[in-house]
Amino acid sequence: MLRNTSSGYGAIAIVFHWTMAVLILALVGLGLYMTGLEQTDPSLYPLYQLHKSLGLTALALAVLRLAWRVINPSPRLPQTMSRIERVAAHLGHAGLYALMLAIPLSGWLMVSASPWGIPTVIFNLFTVPHLPVPEALGDKAAAEAVLKGVHEILGWSLIVLVGLHVAAALKHHFISRDTVFKRMTSLKPATESR
Ligand code: HEM
Ligand code: HEM
Repeated sequence: MLRNTSSGYGAIAIVFHWTMAVLILALVGLGLYMTGLEQTDPSLYPLYQLHKSLGLTALALAVLRLAWRVINPSPRLPQTMSRIERVAAHLGHAGLYALMLAIPLSGWLMVSASPWGIPTVIFNLFTVPHLPVPEALGDKAAAEAVLKGVHEILGWSLIVLVGLHVAAALKHHFISRDTVFKRMTSLKPATESR
């Protein structure tokens, strides 16, 4: 039951999904909260460090999750879904995976470009090196501004896509009444209820 089957998710995919869902929603909330604080707020520095630590944890988990997905294909979508619905579901999932990589990478690049050179100390334990920032983005201040904009736009794109994703999951459960929601919440083989 660790691996996916053709009709259901295995334990590893389910644990990855829900751990990362909680982590990413917490990161969005924390990101929006901390950027609304006054620059003089004493909690600003620890909250930014926490956001960076959780964000890089999400990046590491996203890489492991994608590797697991490559060697362990996802269950097939139910035949009751139209071709367009299936294409939309695949595109939506691909978009979520792309954002799970691109958002933390843009954040890491942003703090690497900052002229302040503030270190990223993961959970107060060890310092993560800065990434090389592409010269095409201009001097440090200009590159930081561009990457801040990119991180913010990607963050809002994630909020919209997750909103659609959750709406689709609820539609499957309450309107279509198929197995799509149940197979991400339970290891028991789900049966169609209509
Ligand atoms: C999946 C992972 C992540 C998510 C969902 C996320 C989300 C967000 C959101 C929604 C904001 C507030 C909007 C904004 O002004 O940009 C934000 C801000 C920020 N994030 Fe992230 N983030 C993630 C990972 C990271 C990582 C890995 C770093 C750095 C190592 C980082 C550094 C920052 C910084 C420095 C800000 C504040 C930008 C400012 O002062 O305007 N983030 N993040
Ligand atoms: C919090 C509410 C959420 C609910 C109710 C939910 C529900 C689901 C369900 C039911 C599936 C299975 C779809 C299928 O059988 O094909 C799924 C898959 C998926 N979810 Fe979520 N999800 C949530 C949050 C998130 C978040 C925050 C992310 C990431 C940003 C995410 C990313 C994904 C991805 C990438 C898949 C495809 C898994 C694969 O087959 O590789 N989900 N979700």
